[in-house]
Amino acid sequence: MSIHTTSPASPPTTDRWLKGTTGLRYGGDYNPEQWPRETWLEDIALMKQAGINLVSIAIFAWGILEPREGEYDFSQLDDIFGLLHEAGIDIDLATPTAAPPAWFWKKYPDSRPVTRDGITLGNGSRGMVSPSSPDYRRAAAAITEQLARRYANHPALVLWHVHNEYGAPISDSYDDHSVAAFRMWLQKRYATLDTLNEKWGTTFWGQVYGEWDEIDAPRQSASVTNQAQRLDFHRFTSDALLECYINERDVIRRFTPDIPVTTNFMATNCLSPDYWKWAREVDIVANDHYLVAERADNHVLLAMDADLSRSLAGGAPWILMEHSTGAVNWQPRNIAKRAGEMARNSLSHLARGADAILFFQFRASRFGVEKFHSAMLPHAGAETRVWREVVALGETLGSLEAVRGSRVQARVALLWDTESFWAQDFEWRPSAELGHRERLEAFYTALWNRNVSVDFAHPTADLTGYALVVAPSLYLVGPAASENLTGYVRDGGHLVVSYFSGIVDENDTVYAGAAPGALREVLGLTIPEFLPLHENETVTLSDSRTGTAWTDDIEVSTAEVLARYVDGPAAGGPALTRNVYGAGSAWYISTKLTGTDLDSLLLDVLNTAGIEAARSIDGVETIIRSTDTDEFLFLINHSDADQSWPASGTELLTNTAVDGTVLVPAGLTRVVHSTL
Ligand code: GLA
Repeated sequence: MSIHTTSPASPPTTDRWLKGTTGLRYGGDYNPEQWPRETWLEDIALMKQAGINLVSIAIFAWGILEPREGEYDFSQLDDIFGLLHEAGIDIDLATPTAAPPAWFWKKYPDSRPVTRDGITLGNGSRGMVSPSSPDYRRAAAAITEQLARRYANHPALVLWHVHNEYGAPISDSYDDHSVAAFRMWLQKRYATLDTLNEKWGTTFWGQVYGEWDEIDAPRQSASVTNQAQRLDFHRFTSDALLECYINERDVIRRFTPDIPVTTNFMATNCLSPDYWKWAREVDIVANDHYLVAERADNHVLLAMDADLSRSLAGGAPWILMEHSTGAVNWQPRNIAKRAGEMARNSLSHLARGADAILFFQFRASRFGVEKFHSAMLPHAGAETRVWREVVALGETLGSLEAVRGSRVQARVALLWDTESFWAQDFEWRPSAELGHRERLEAFYTALWNRNVSVDFAHPTADLTGYALVVAPSLYLVGPAASENLTGYVRDGGHLVVSYFSGIVDENDTVYAGAAPGALREVLGLTIPEFLPLHENETVTLSDSRTGTAWTDDIEVSTAEVLARYVDGPAAGGPALTRNVYGAGSAWYISTKLTGTDLDSLLLDVLNTAGIEAARSIDGVETIIRSTDTDEFLFLINHSDADQSWPASGTELLTNTAVDGTVLVPAGLTRVVHSTL
């Protein structure tokens, strides 16, 4: 087992896909173990009616498949394999290791996870076990081997779904196995205690370690815990979970080397796994996404999640493993999707590179904690709006077969670094208003509003293909990333950096000298002092823009000042700068800009970088997928009014010729196919 100790520079770009149909995949999680056999027959007939061609099964079935340790019962699973295959529905077979059975917990109580504040968690649920428990890893490999042996040659098997949403609902465990494994992980990373002491800055508060076994997991303590230690514990936890995945994947590969193996990510919504590293270990990226029901801009956040999924896949097609037809059951107010919303959501994922659209789950559960979660087939059955929309979506996907395998081209990259999220979210930062995610969402939204396609990239990735790179509050920038970003601009790239970026290295140590240590040279400025603002305080810029949350005392060296502060603690000093550096340029935005202030600035930047910011969105989201020969223009109308858009070719959903203008009715989507 070998995993890299730092994030890989660039994701893989393989275009591996599921055998079988040449079209798109459609379906969802299916839990027949909750139903009598006669219901399975009804389900399968309904799946056929909806055009479903892929279901994920056995995700939580460990207790049924292995009722006592080492005793297996595959009778139900054999039956369901047979019935699905007869109906021509392919199978994404899960390893059920996200929910160990009751016997496991009784026999191996030391596998139970311990929270940061010392609570040992019980069973009767799912999701958590100490990822470093040797008994868990052995038991997980054993059930995986049984499944792989039994179904390796089954013609319905097209995909493996290892575990479920690693890292959720919680990820880090402070149990004895984890502490022992953490110490080994540290020995591998630092080799000597002297190095560890230096990297963790343990002379602060006299935390110096003289023996490896003095080191503990960073549990809840009286005051704030060493943040370099916490950062390493995050890295360790991501690696420990990844080892669990690889443990199962490698068993599977012995039996089915040609069937792709994946696990479902939660791209923007779970920060425990460092997905850039994980993406290298899956054959196809798979992602789960649920709307934040109460946010009016949740379709923009969906787009961001889908763009990150595609980026993790290196641009290759990916699988939307789960989303919902309507309400979920775990938000404060589980607002149902209204007519057409599910289709718009699905087609936005598709437009952003997903070639499989799957849901949680096929049939709603009558019991268990998810009984109020929507499904493809609701409790009320097939005579429902939701089911009719599910059938209609199946038809829509059928008409979009030609899209399969085409790709999205983006000229703008937003930097996304999980390690920077971890570090920035610790306590005692200069202001509670600092938020990596807040700035990411702000910049992403501004670009989305302009219909600019965006990839996400790790700060050490090869950025040469991008005309513009945006670093929204990227607090942690290690030396490799610093060099990469500086080189990118020197070679002709354009970089936008927002405040509180490039402050610390990979051990959360402030760079020597004035901020922003990692980006001083490329930005052509230094920041002798941070000047955060009061709650609700605003500052005015000389270009009439308004800032909130943050300002800096800036001294420019080579940068040109684009706007100064008129008032506030940095009055008279630079607010917005641009540094021509080598063949490119780098902007610095030292305050929180929103709305039209951010939009107009980005428009200037896009123009300088030579990127066409076509037209403001007017409620119509546009994305292009293309191949060398074909182009597919997706137009998703989120507004209540019909809209016209320039296009020519064939509209695939209505199968009509388009000559110059296509009408996109309110709430609907149109996909115009043209040849290049
Ligand atoms: C996650 C899980 C599913 C289900 C859904 C409910 O995505 O993977 O098993 O619990 O949430 O939204």
